[in-house]
Amino acid sequence: MEDRYGHRISYLRVSITDRCNERCRYCLPEEQQEWLTRDDVLTYEELLRVIRVGAGMGISKVRITGGEPLTRRNVLWFFEQLGQIEGINDIGISTNGTLLARPAQNAETRTTAEQLRQFGVRTVNVSLDSLDREVYSQTTGRNYLDQAIAGIDAARAAGFESIKVNSVLMRGQNEHELWDLIEFAQGRDLLLRFIELMPVSTTEMLTEENFLPIGEAKKLIEFKYGALEPIPEFRTNGPASYFRIAETGQKIGFIGAMTNLHFCETCNKLRLTCEGKLRPCLGSHLEFDMREVLRNPEMTDDDVAKFFLSVVDRKPEQHEFRENYQPGRRMIAIGG
Ligand code: 5AD
Ligand code: SF4
Repeated sequence: MEDRYGHRISYLRVSITDRCNERCRYCLPEEQQEWLTRDDVLTYEELLRVIRVGAGMGISKVRITGGEPLTRRNVLWFFEQLGQIEGINDIGISTNGTLLARPAQNAETRTTAEQLRQFGVRTVNVSLDSLDREVYSQTTGRNYLDQAIAGIDAARAAGFESIKVNSVLMRGQNEHELWDLIEFAQGRDLLLRFIELMPVSTTEMLTEENFLPIGEAKKLIEFKYGALEPIPEFRTNGPASYFRIAETGQKIGFIGAMTNLHFCETCNKLRLTCEGKLRPCLGSHLEFDMREVLRNPEMTDDDVAKFFLSVVDRKPEQHEFRENYQPGRRMIAIGG
């Protein structure tokens, strides 16, 4: 599948739930609790059908997100099925990490992380904005720092191909912890990425006071570690640009949705929300109701395939974050 601007679409990001066991202030504030009903959310069978059809259309990579995907009931069954879809050769999960160390049901594996690995999940992205108990609790609304770190360690023990740690930059919150996060990542051999706060929730988080641009984060890092060398040849499957700390060789990623003007150039992604909206771009209002097609008994897999094509055809050239995008939708519903 190719859009009007030459983007080849091979990556589907799938939110399987809007629920989460944390309450990050930029994503899902405590006071805002309008959960979707069970009927609203696509069933595992519906999700697997979309992914199967997508695989036939050139989707080869899937990342499962939420909410917190590991809070959904029987989620390991879903991953087991997902691992068997032909054509999907790269499966990842984005998680807050807090449930990765949870004991798995299967007697052969000890942790959820191990079980996921066994079902063919290759990469894990863990959100971790702070290593300070206070700050962690404040930003996530939960005192789960130890569980998140235990989850990261469970993932390391399970032998994933890559484990990334994503830290959202927040001025006055974790601004003073960039060095600690870098050392944490180095000590555990994790690929750390710093993410600019994006206007993807209804909270008032994205203010001038909270926003810390990656340009400034780089300066803070260079102050301690010396010059960061760009490594344009090193890419992961996304919009991050990577730099190397010359002294130690450690790679650090920067995801600058707001200030990187080339952010969308290599976009290869579609997103499926947990209630079955296919979104061609995170930073655009456009979304198309695939659930309607899936639940219409007259619609075949061919119709689902056509739906994919029509959405890809409407993929915008770039996101609208810089044009004062006010989505009125929570990140958690879109798929973080
Ligand atoms: N800005 C930037 N990143 C966000 N995430 C959630 N909401 C926002 C936001 N408003 C991130 C999480 C996690 C990923 C799933 O999305 O921190 O790393
Ligand atoms: Fe949950 Fe992730 Fe949203 Fe935080 S950012 S509330 S961990 S889904």
